Amino acid sequence: MKKILIWGGTGQIGTHLVRKLTQNNYTVTVVTRNIHQKGHIIKTQGNAGYIEIKECSIYDEPKIRKLFESADICINLIGILFEKKNGNTFKNIHSVFPSLLAKLCKEYKLKQFIHISALGINEALDSNYAQSKLDGEQNILKIFPRTTILRPSIVYSSSDNFSCNLMTLLSRLPIFPLYYHGKTKFTPIHCTDLTDIISFVISNKVNSSVIECIGPEVLSFKEILIILLNSINKKRLLIPFPLPLAKITANFFQLLPNPLLTVDQLNLLKYDNVVSGKYKTNFDIGLPAKKIFSKEIKKYSYMWTEGGEYSRKKNV
Ligand SMILES: NC(=O)c1ccc[n+]([C@@H]2O[C@H](COP(=O)([O-])OP(=O)(O)OC[C@H]3O[C@@H](n4cnc5c(N)ncnc54)[C@H](OP(=O)(O)O)[C@@H]3O)[C@@H](O)[C@H]2O)c1
Repeated sequence: MKKILIWGGTGQIGTHLVRKLTQNNYTVTVVTRNIHQKGHIIKTQGNAGYIEIKECSIYDEPKIRKLFESADICINLIGILFEKKNGNTFKNIHSVFPSLLAKLCKEYKLKQFIHISALGINEALDSNYAQSKLDGEQNILKIFPRTTILRPSIVYSSSDNFSCNLMTLLSRLPIFPLYYHGKTKFTPIHCTDLTDIISFVISNKVNSSVIECIGPEVLSFKEILIILLNSINKKRLLIPFPLPLAKITANFFQLLPNPLLTVDQLNLLKYDNVVSGKYKTNFDIGLPAKKIFSKEIKKYSYMWTEGGEYSRKKNV
């Protein structure tokens, strides 16, 4: 039975992935910084004996090495959307740590290293997030060229930080700002479509590839907001927000511990999050993502409606 070491396995993608991999008879070791906060979520994702949870800091190389001793495959899902104190910088998280993982994959002769990067990072030259992800990819490929890098567009599910946060904001705010007139394009992929791709990469022993992971539709930010509003039965004014004003609010927000928007995210939002044409996509490798955004959102958007599931017309 192959042993998979997963970094960042307690997040949205990780939780879905652990369920998928254990169902397929892999044993997984999930690493977290806080077993007391995150352990219980992971423990329930597979049968007894399939999941091991370890607490470790990404700066503790001796402990990290111990975890590599029994691993066959390593997956890196650690990522942040904004920088925090205590060394949690884009550089450390997206570039320095993945480089260490690549070094250890080489040293401990692991069969595969799968690193989750992000779509559209080549174009977003004025985003520190994107540039750190790009740096990370380049470093990894120099050290362990057999790595498979997956670049997803927005990943959504009932446990995401994207559609769920937007539905919370849309249900509370009377108006909603449209940055760049809401024209930025996205190719949202459902989390289970992405974990199918990761599972395929493992079972088919795919190495040395960059794969752009996209859903079946291209949607503008405004179209996404309209789908979400329809799903929660709300009408809101979507107002184009002048960029200088957006920058001032982002500068203010980013002083908060969990900012709604940072200047770096505002810069990133300027660029369409669509396939580059330079790399293979999941569609090219025979894994077309099938889940339609509006249909999937309906399966959990009732949580933002008064009356929950009973607010649906079928129940009236
Ligand atoms: N979600 C998307 O739309 C999307 C799109 C493109 C790319 N990606 C990339 O896909 C990967 C996974 O995304 P996700 O949505 O599953 O993320 P997530 O839900 O935010 O989970 C992030 C994970 O990273 C870990 N983490 C965060 N900061 C850390 C730190 N300082 N040290 C160690 N671990 C840290 C967390 O682990 P603990 O808190 O348990 O330690 C958590 O398990 C990320 O690299 C992300 O950039 C995501």
